[in-house]
Amino acid sequence: MDKLLIRGGTPLNGTINVSGAKNAALPILAGALLSAEPVIVRNVPQLKDVATTITLLQSMGVEVTFDDKLNVELDASNVTQRRAPYELVKTMRASILVLGPLVARFGEAAVSLPGGCAIGARPVNLHVEGLEAMGAHVVVENGFILARADRLAGAHIVFDTVTVTGTENLMMAAALADGETLLENAAREPEVIDLARFLTSMGANISGAGTSTIRIVGVDRLGGADHTVLPDRIEAGTYLVGAAMTGGKVRLNRASPQTLEAVIVKLQEAGARIVTGEDSIEIDMGGRRPVSVDIRTTPYPGFPTDMQAQFCAMNAVAEGVGTITETIFENRFQHVLELQRMGADIRIEGHTAVCRGVDKLTAAPVMATDLRASAGLVLAGLAAEGDTLVDRIYHVDRGYERIEEKLRQLGADIKRVPN
Ligand code: UD1
Repeated sequence: MDKLLIRGGTPLNGTINVSGAKNAALPILAGALLSAEPVIVRNVPQLKDVATTITLLQSMGVEVTFDDKLNVELDASNVTQRRAPYELVKTMRASILVLGPLVARFGEAAVSLPGGCAIGARPVNLHVEGLEAMGAHVVVENGFILARADRLAGAHIVFDTVTVTGTENLMMAAALADGETLLENAAREPEVIDLARFLTSMGANISGAGTSTIRIVGVDRLGGADHTVLPDRIEAGTYLVGAAMTGGKVRLNRASPQTLEAVIVKLQEAGARIVTGEDSIEIDMGGRRPVSVDIRTTPYPGFPTDMQAQFCAMNAVAEGVGTITETIFENRFQHVLELQRMGADIRIEGHTAVCRGVDKLTAAPVMATDLRASAGLVLAGLAAEGDTLVDRIYHVDRGYERIEEKLRQLGADIKRVPN
């Protein structure tokens, strides 16, 4: 198992490109199952989760070709398996995204039920209840969700909780259902909008994506598409926080600043000067120490839970006291225990982490526990005194494309070391 060795203390400085968004690429790749015609997906990030999704689709009989590293062509004209096995689902919960497309196009699906998850219970009941409302018969047997339907029928679905992949799964299912589906209290994330754009280019009839009510009028069949995945706002936000924590100056190209407003506001509050262009973001900390910020995670357009660990790391070295309240996932403070090992002064009170910034973190061997927690630890390592060794970085590789290369491009002293 590889580790990342980081010698902290160098301000991040320079320019990098932002990759395509993981959380848009995953549902879009799954959406290829909806059509018998080839689809081309461009700007696909090279990540472990993308590789897992492609392996899953190939195991079903989808032909996948790469015309260059980031462009993927998928041909789902000959799907022979409608099954997502446990071995793949357990490594990536987003595998659940094949459920809606499989039931909608083939009338059946067997998707292993995702088990426990490092950041909380994370059930999929809303995905299942939505499909049932559309007429699917769903049972759980031998650890699998087994769903069947002759043809799904449009339905009026009001989500109890805002769910991103739940919204995406049901939007895909509804695209081929008979009649109109209304999704209310739908997720408004930019990745939901990107998926809707992809489905629309395949011939789907979708309106309202990006608002909390999405209307989908089902069509009989969907065709091919050529779609470019939007930039990854969480990757972009992570590098911005890295610059803020190290007093650096970074320019991100191929970014999507309008998807990062809540994050940019908090970085400005922390003392960063930020200039945005149409597809670029520049942050300049001018060598200053950040000021602590208070954060409360909420669904988009609120502050993203996927940026919480990175801001926790920033508050650990910032001036003053900052609170971070996590409202989306119940067990998403595991990075705090590791940050404490680096000298952070953080205490957890219920769903809130109260952090008093210290002058310097000190390097320590630390363990990544989930994807975004691991990003927080890498950032802490960049700001710490000495050599930090981050273990279990397969979590990082699930969601960050070539992180050590990009950070080196920004002047960081970081390398991947084999075990
Ligand atoms: C997606 C993102 C993930 C992000 C999360 C919240 C992808 C691939 N992953 O995950 O990076 O952290 O949104 O922004 O896009 N819930 C239920 N029942 C359900 C579904 C969800 O109770 O059937 C609850 C969850 O436990 C959680 C909340 O709803 O408390 C939000 O989860 P959800 O938006 O579904 O997260 P994901 O789509 O899994």
